[in-house]
Order: sequence, then C-alpha cells, then structure tokens
Amino acid sequence: SPLHDLLTALPKCEHHVHLEGTLSPELLFELAAKNSIVLPPISGQASGDVGADAVDPAFASPEALYARYAQFTSLDDFLHYYYIGFRVLLTASDFEALTYAYLRRAATGLPGSRTGNVRHAEVFFDPQGHTPRGILPSTIITGFHAAAARAERDFGITAQLIPCLLRHLPVADGEATFDALAAAGHFASGALAGLGLCSTEIDRPPALYAPVFTRAAALGIDRTAHAGEEGPPGYVSAAVAELGVRRVDHGVRAAEDEDVMRGLSEAGVLLTVCPLSNVALKGVTRIGEVPVRVFLDRGVKFSLNSDDPAYFGGYIQENYCAVEEAFGLSVDEWRIIARNAVEGSWCGEERKAVIL
Ligand code: HPA
Ligand code: ZN
Repeated sequence: SPLHDLLTALPKCEHHVHLEGTLSPELLFELAAKNSIVLPPISGQASGDVGADAVDPAFASPEALYARYAQFTSLDDFLHYYYIGFRVLLTASDFEALTYAYLRRAATGLPGSRTGNVRHAEVFFDPQGHTPRGILPSTIITGFHAAAARAERDFGITAQLIPCLLRHLPVADGEATFDALAAAGHFASGALAGLGLCSTEIDRPPALYAPVFTRAAALGIDRTAHAGEEGPPGYVSAAVAELGVRRVDHGVRAAEDEDVMRGLSEAGVLLTVCPLSNVALKGVTRIGEVPVRVFLDRGVKFSLNSDDPAYFGGYIQENYCAVEEAFGLSVDEWRIIARNAVEGSWCGEERKAVIL
C-alpha cells in the first residue's frame, strides 16, 4: 500500500495487549523445558485424575500449536489455550524475558525491519491466573519493570502495567485481588497504572464489578474494561455507566446500536479495537466487517491494538496494515486514529506531548 511508510512512521500507542498473550509457541516450549512444566499429553490414554489434562495433539510442537491457534472458534476456545500457556511462566526473569521481547517487537517490528514504532504500551496481565500456582503479583511486577527500564534505554519505548480481573472466576475473588494489590501500594507507587477487566464475557455483565470499580475510582485509579467483544451493545454502555470507565476494550458490538454509539461519541469514550483478534475469534469473518468506517463516521474514538499477538497472527503494525488494506483510509483519518491513541493513553501529558 502507498500508505505503508506513513503507517510505519506514525508514532503509536498500544492500550490493549495482554502480557501473557505475547507468549509465542516457541517461548512456551522453551520455558516449559527450562521450568520442567508438563504440557497436556499429545497422545495415549487420558488420565482419569481430577484436574488431569485431556489429550491434545496441539502440544506436539510449536508448529502444531500455531496450526491450532489458526482455528479458534470463540473467545472461550482461545482462553483455554491462553491459560495453559500461563503454566510455563514462573520467575521474575521469565516475565522479564516475555516483556522485553514484546516491547522490542512493538518498538522495532520484525528483526531488521524498523517497523512498529510503538512509543508507549499499556500492558495487561491477569494476577488471578498466576496466584493459584504460587506466582505472586510482585514477581510479575518486578520482571515487567526490569524489562520496561531496559526497553526504554534500548528503544525509547515507555510501558505501563495494568492488572485485569478475570470474569470467569467468582466476583469475590476479583475483589480480593484488587484489594490486595491496593493494600500492597502497587497503584500508589505507580507500579500498576490502572485497573482492567477481561476473560469470558457472555453472562458476566459489567454491573457485577461495579462495587470494586467504585472502590478503585475512590482511590483515583484509572479504569478500563473489556466489553462488547462477544457481549451485547448494552454491555458497552453498562461498562461506561456502571464502571465509570473512559476506555472500553474491544467495544466493537457497540456498532449494532446507534444510541450506544451516540453515547460513546458524546462522552468521548475511547474503544481499544483489535481487528486481527476479532477475526481470529470469529466475532467477524473478515477485517472489513470490523466497524472502523462506522466508528469514524459516527465520531466514536478508537485505537488499534494487537490484544494477544502471539495467538492472533500479528502485532500492532500488522493490525494497522490489515485495516488499511480492508478500508483504504485517508492520510487524515490515519492521523486522527494515531492521535486519539496517544491522547487516550495514561502516560501523562508530558509524555504525550513528546510522542505527538
Ligand atoms: N477478551 C477477553 N479476555 C481476554 C482477551 C480478550 O480478547 N485476551 C486475553 N484475555
Ligand atoms: Zn483483550
């Protein structure tokens, strides 16, 4: 595309990427070997033990895993593999390696390509996916910030870390997780930049999390929530009304309801849209069905993001390029998208001015 150089040169901010979703099959196998983690068996009799893994030939090799990832049928089908990947992440240095590899790729693209140009990344992680294995949030926070400091020195990229509460677990579990993070001072110190909400969406309406999001608001903590990925448009407006968020992750199903879009546009809410993710998880059949054109026309702000790039076939650069190929946007429209992404970031006005 003639716009390729512009898409590369635009200073980008990423707001919707899950640290665990940057775990490539190659690194998954490498860390499983290093940490002596047994992955689901690839053949033979499945054990009858409670909690035993079913036989799954996808774990035969990185190639077999990539092939399975190309056939996700839904959000929950993806999440099954995503949470298995968590098991290989044990030490602060595992999280540091994961974080550094992502930040390098976001800032500089594929080796030698000098693409990407992500200047600031706000990265989610799922504390509740790690604490049952005895991995404390402080271990993840330590590894993340060690990598972030190195990546800032090496590539000039800045990074923040945001814990997400998991909706497939009991609400009380999420509340206790938030309260422990707050009591440990991780938000006050700036080690954590805000609060998020993710995982299974169907039948988990935002209102369930209103009490804990209200507590976060009272502490002056920035908030965002996944909504309107698989859930109905009403979940997007409910996230804004009941959780008080100024950002909604995904939010694409808002396009089905003109009233919901008008509300978003009037309130200036930013949707963190993830086009390759929506295709991979079958929310849409192709990039052209992601409501990019509709949101631009209705004045609904959005950023473009990678979500779980190791699982969905592309980092932020590939998402920008896929949108350009499907929609053929103008230079001005691209500048608006990139500017809204910078302005919707949580990195502070000084840093935003530098990026712009
Ligand atoms: N949606 C919900 N939960 C998630 C996602 C997502 O796209 N990625 C990782 N956890
Ligand atoms: Zn997500």
